[in-house]
Amino acid sequence: MNDSSCRRLLSTPNRWLYILHLYLDNLVYVVQHNVMTQMPEKTEIEMQLLRCPKINEEKFLYYTQKSQKAQTYSNFGPCEALLKSRLANLLGVEVSCTTLGSSATSLLQIACELCCGDSESRSADITGYFPNFSFFSTFSVAHLSRAKIKWYDLTLGTYMPAVADLPHNPKFIYLTVPFGSERILEYFQFAKSTDSYVIIDAAACLPTIIHKKIKLTQIPKNVIIVFSLHATKLINSGEGGLMVFGQEIPQHAQNLTNFGLNHQRIQFWPRAYNAKMSEFNAAAGLTSLDDSKSNISKILSAKKKAEQIGLSYGIKFFTDVASPTLTLHVLAENASLIMKETQTKFPLRQWWGLNKQEPEKFPVSQKLYDSLLGVPFDWECVDDYFPTLCEYLSQK
Ligand SMILES: Cc1ncc(COP(=O)(O)O)c(C=O)c1O
Repeated sequence: MNDSSCRRLLSTPNRWLYILHLYLDNLVYVVQHNVMTQMPEKTEIEMQLLRCPKINEEKFLYYTQKSQKAQTYSNFGPCEALLKSRLANLLGVEVSCTTLGSSATSLLQIACELCCGDSESRSADITGYFPNFSFFSTFSVAHLSRAKIKWYDLTLGTYMPAVADLPHNPKFIYLTVPFGSERILEYFQFAKSTDSYVIIDAAACLPTIIHKKIKLTQIPKNVIIVFSLHATKLINSGEGGLMVFGQEIPQHAQNLTNFGLNHQRIQFWPRAYNAKMSEFNAAAGLTSLDDSKSNISKILSAKKKAEQIGLSYGIKFFTDVASPTLTLHVLAENASLIMKETQTKFPLRQWWGLNKQEPEKFPVSQKLYDSLLGVPFDWECVDDYFPTLCEYLSQK
């Protein structure tokens, strides 16, 4: 748009049109450059860092009509209730032991709050143990939790806490399951060995668990598990999360997503948020769940293909090569350096971060950070770019 047409638009009622034009221009830029493609500035081959399966519009409309009929768009409406009961059913748990929320991060925050106890009875000396290498939200959750934070190093191979770093029974221990691993039952085993509450951040694991038909019926009484329904997950609601909790966990997680209101609408738990799931997100989640089988089979066959190509170049993969996740990791020698050198060729990511204080105390975390490299997994065009990517990585 040139200067004179700008002036014409701004001097008439059309200025709203101009503002809308700027807004849309900006939105298109953001979508193209940051959100959808997550591409570095210049790449030589067309590919996406990850590709979210499409949300079927007809099905989405079908579900949103339920909300339309009820004229309810938030506050635990029909789609939210249906999504919760379908997920509980698939996981083999009671609906009353589950809560949906606006994101995994908000539910993880709420999980810490549940473990710490309400403000009246809360001791000033509550300790929470957190992993030193984890997804970025772990560090925000830890710092907002108001617990005394103790960091622990991980154990190579299992990703469990290094036992030496857990000298006492703290109020809670926060575990993060790496990149959609199916090993959730091992985390249950760990939880049974401690008197502390255990929060399991299994953000990327829901599709794997559903695909493998793993049931959470035996969830230990001291455990809270949180899954993400973010668009980077194969089963997703755009933004959203699911919490499943054991019998000993205070049962008011859902109230904490709704300003801490109790059933009489009295604000009984003031340390609470608005972290409810909207009907639109729930409708998208139901649609995504309907399509999950066919998407899982597409993702898994593309991963198999990627693995075969990679192996022929001597590339070693992390276990997510066999999981229905939208991300893919290779084992590298120095992930940060490869990232730096490769930005203009391929979109790479280190999906997890480190707590950077006292790095000498956390050698395994550092090693894992350096050895896991998120590579583009564009499952619609593996044949087009994966051989070139693997050839490049094999020379690093
Ligand atoms: C391990 C882990 N925890 C937490 C999150 C945050 O999930 P959300 O975006 O739903 O808050 C993610 C997101 O990818 C994750 O991978």
